[in-house]
Amino acid sequence: MSLASLRLFTAFLSLLPTLVFASKEPTQAIGVQMERIQESEKFSTRMELRSYNSTQPVASMPTTSKKRRSNWRIPPKLNAKVSRHTINEQKVFITDKETGGELVSRWMVNLQKRRTTTGEGTTFGLATGSSPVLVYENLVKAYNNGDFTTENLNTINLDEYANLEAGHKETYKQFMKKNLFDDIKLPESQFHIFGSNPHSNDEEDEEIQRINELLKTYPRHLQLLGIGPNGHIGFNEPGKTLTVDTGARVVKLAIATCEANSRFFDNDINAVPTHARTLGIADILAADSIVILAWGEAKARAIQKAITGPVDSLLPASFLQRHKNVAWVIDKEAASILFGKGMRITRSMARMNLYLQKQIPQANQ
Ligand code: GLP
Repeated sequence: MSLASLRLFTAFLSLLPTLVFASKEPTQAIGVQMERIQESEKFSTRMELRSYNSTQPVASMPTTSKKRRSNWRIPPKLNAKVSRHTINEQKVFITDKETGGELVSRWMVNLQKRRTTTGEGTTFGLATGSSPVLVYENLVKAYNNGDFTTENLNTINLDEYANLEAGHKETYKQFMKKNLFDDIKLPESQFHIFGSNPHSNDEEDEEIQRINELLKTYPRHLQLLGIGPNGHIGFNEPGKTLTVDTGARVVKLAIATCEANSRFFDNDINAVPTHARTLGIADILAADSIVILAWGEAKARAIQKAITGPVDSLLPASFLQRHKNVAWVIDKEAASILFGKGMRITRSMARMNLYLQKQIPQANQ
């Protein structure tokens, strides 16, 4: 059998379960996939089928030691509840919110354990919003079980409102204290977060400078992220001036973000701060590894564009394609455009996707 016919036969085999299980008509199912794939303007040629072999390490997380260790392992207990895919060199884990929270907290705990055994400190870049709440809940459990320690741990938060009284319950500092820091008794000297209410431009600049210094002192081993419905990461809002080199700064929030965040301010958009400080794209990409979480359909379009579309300043999360060690942990609803609505997301399904994607001529090649 020639190589070409072998590939066709393999693709046919991988398609079979999808044809049987997809809730849509088979031809429609393939049509939807093709349409979705053609919609995206760029796919990496380096999509790997080999990552579906569960016996192989999926990715490795850079550590300060020379030895790179596999990081994105799914613990056996969670294996059945998580499906794993590789698209554009980014790992995509589809699961439910509860499992996702447990999975990511385990990655963090294990990373810290590995570093502790070699006497190294650990720094986590942390995010706010509803997406990471269950990760924090599981970290607290691990702390209470004695599995997670704050010794040699530092954290740097992504962003903070820029015009909200210190102590306001919606500052990200209060959020972090309530959801994590107080419960794990992390001393103030070990968590770093922008102040929420500078009183002058000078204070503003000093604050940015302070965080920039901290980023140098504490390189992050893992950066947690959420994603806004408009594709923002941190408070890097869509905008033509955003580039891969953009650093920490003060930003004006997009209307879409104020609308989305008004739920924390009694649904009053006028109560949402207009400005914020955020790490930039360059700062986010400087972390050794990135885990981005998303739950719910409102994020589905932004996720599909971020993973499969071109890198585009109007879709800030697409800059993550420039990082070699990104894991998306999302639920089926958030993956519903990426994988097609109403479809079972199985390994065979993913294999078919990758096969079809490989048939599309690559831009600039
Ligand atoms: C906020 C934060 C982001 C966060 C995003 C998503 O605007 N600045 O860092 O990722 O919202 O929030 P949620 O997780 O609540 O959807």
